Amino acid sequence: MSNFKRTLVTTALPYANGPVHVGHLAGVYVPADIYVRYLRMKGEDVLHIGGSDEHGVPITLKARKEGVTPQDIVDKYHNLIKDSFEKFGISFDIYSRTTSEMHHKTASEFFKKLYDKGAFMEKETDQYYDEEARQFLADRYITGTCPHCNSTGAYGDQCESCGTSLNATDLVNPKSMISGSIPVMRKTKHWYLPLDQHQKFLEKWILEEHKEWKPNVYGQCKSWLDLGLQPRAVSRDLDWGVPVPVEGGEGKVLYVWFDAPIGYISATRELTPDWEKYWKDPETRLIHFIGKDNIVFHCIVFPSMLKSEGSFNLPDNVPANEFLNLEGDKISTSRNWAVWLHEYLVDFKDKQDVLRYVLTANAPETKDNDFTWRDFQARNNNELVAILGNFVNRAVVLTHKYYDGQVPLIGETEPFDVETLEEIPALVNRIEKSLDAFKFREAVREAMNLARLGNKYLADTEPWKLQKTNPERVKTIMNIALQITANLALVMEPFLPFTARKMRDMLDMEDLSWDRCGKTELLKPAHKINEAKLLFDKIEDAQIQEQLDRLAKTKNSNEAENKEAAPAKADISFDDFTKMDIRVGTILEAEKVAKTKKLLKIKVDTGIDKRTVVSGIAEFFEPEDIIGRQVSILVNLAVRKIKGIESQGMILMAEDADGRLDFVAPGTRIKPGSEVR
Ligand code: 2FM
Ligand code: ZN
Repeated sequence: MSNFKRTLVTTALPYANGPVHVGHLAGVYVPADIYVRYLRMKGEDVLHIGGSDEHGVPITLKARKEGVTPQDIVDKYHNLIKDSFEKFGISFDIYSRTTSEMHHKTASEFFKKLYDKGAFMEKETDQYYDEEARQFLADRYITGTCPHCNSTGAYGDQCESCGTSLNATDLVNPKSMISGSIPVMRKTKHWYLPLDQHQKFLEKWILEEHKEWKPNVYGQCKSWLDLGLQPRAVSRDLDWGVPVPVEGGEGKVLYVWFDAPIGYISATRELTPDWEKYWKDPETRLIHFIGKDNIVFHCIVFPSMLKSEGSFNLPDNVPANEFLNLEGDKISTSRNWAVWLHEYLVDFKDKQDVLRYVLTANAPETKDNDFTWRDFQARNNNELVAILGNFVNRAVVLTHKYYDGQVPLIGETEPFDVETLEEIPALVNRIEKSLDAFKFREAVREAMNLARLGNKYLADTEPWKLQKTNPERVKTIMNIALQITANLALVMEPFLPFTARKMRDMLDMEDLSWDRCGKTELLKPAHKINEAKLLFDKIEDAQIQEQLDRLAKTKNSNEAENKEAAPAKADISFDDFTKMDIRVGTILEAEKVAKTKKLLKIKVDTGIDKRTVVSGIAEFFEPEDIIGRQVSILVNLAVRKIKGIESQGMILMAEDADGRLDFVAPGTRIKPGSEVR
């Protein structure tokens, strides 16, 4: 880090077609905010750049559906999103938007520069055209049946049921979402970024020179590179976006994923005339905070654009997170399965730090994680209230009780005091190490350990029992407890900025520099502190139940609305049925099949033998989580070779309308080999 003079932090620009939810906060904005607050405390030159992503087809679709203009949609959500972030204390230096004049100018110039340098290929392709609406159809404007899972309502770019990415031409029975007519093929010209030509460079830059990137990021880049990169179109036939600024570009706009990351540059340019220093000086490091679905764009596409342009820095790190689920289900805007930040702010007034804490303590840093309301309640009641709030309160209240709010002079120390004092800088050190490595879960755990240390110290020394008999000893104890409190007021600032502010007010501490953390004389003797203020209060069951009821209601109405169950298949005879030999089995081993996303190689004890089965469930289950689980297995299915592995049977799975899988398993433990019929 010392090689750098300054840091430019960017956070993914959320689409301005809906409010932001806990998943956004956990995956991107809270970690980024922790990091920039930490750097600011260290006195580093850092900028935090954000904004709304206001282009792209989904916004135009939503506008069409609601009978308003795309500008109406983005105005509404940009303001809502900006307000939510502000209220959660996400400390942007600028929160801009991609419909701004500055952005259109910057993105347009960027495209033109690449065009003039010959960095694009031009290609004519066949594209679906809606003859009734007289326009080309972006992939998102076409629906049809998914060729992989047969679900209707798949989009031209992706089937949301099975998650497969598609080309519009893959769809069975394609239909225009604008007029409902059947689209025809027409020729259209687009500009392509020849990613294949950047492959060599990217391999070296990422795979050799950035081995330190998080394994989930590095791994995803590697699999893209292993597959071989293809040219990507950077323009679209659409009338919402940044117009293509070159000849032949009439009626076309830049692809949203071309202009969005340039939004980071536009926003910096809007913020400061010195913007080039933050983008071009090699002594600046660039860090993109994003979610895992954005990895390819930030690690492969955008760097190729920057490299082609020639004068910009490439990202130094891209600490992308995995996804946060909600009560066991994928967060979904369209299914209203989310905790919306603007609603949380109403339901849990002044509890922004509680959510920040829970989302950090349970951050999806290395794998997808689940947000549950019960965990939220437990972390508030058992950690924030019982550990942090309780300790700080005791330290401050006792100081008022014994010394009228004046910090006592530290007297003689005993070995336990010294051990406790030594633990303070040790903990700060660990917090710092974790923050530097983008391990925010670990960092907040260590920060809470400081409060645990304080609690343990007071519980072990019991000053309230000694005040009458040995007041000199109590002075030492209370001084140490106050130094721990003061350290907490500093180290909690990146994680819990509202609470840290309250703590500093209580302690009447102003200086917020990180180099004071770990010091054991932060509060001088005779310094006067203020009255105790409540930091956290208990969250009652009723409040949690309200949230759970709301989700249950959403689930019920989704299910009612949901696609009907697949129609019944043709009748079979009882004999046909009995031909299937289905047994209860127990999973003994499981591992991912290399170079695949969906497959697990599983060893099952079928009671008859121990055999290997390849199963397409890797997107739903981690191998280590399913060991020991009982399953139903079809044992007399003819052996099939899948990815070179002999699969001896099939594990039966239930699949819901959203393509979510779960095991069909006995309700209690049953001997492997038991028959299922
Ligand atoms: O996935 C998304 O929500 C995109 N709007 C993120 C864009 S990030 C950047 F490139 F602007
Ligand atoms: Zn599908």
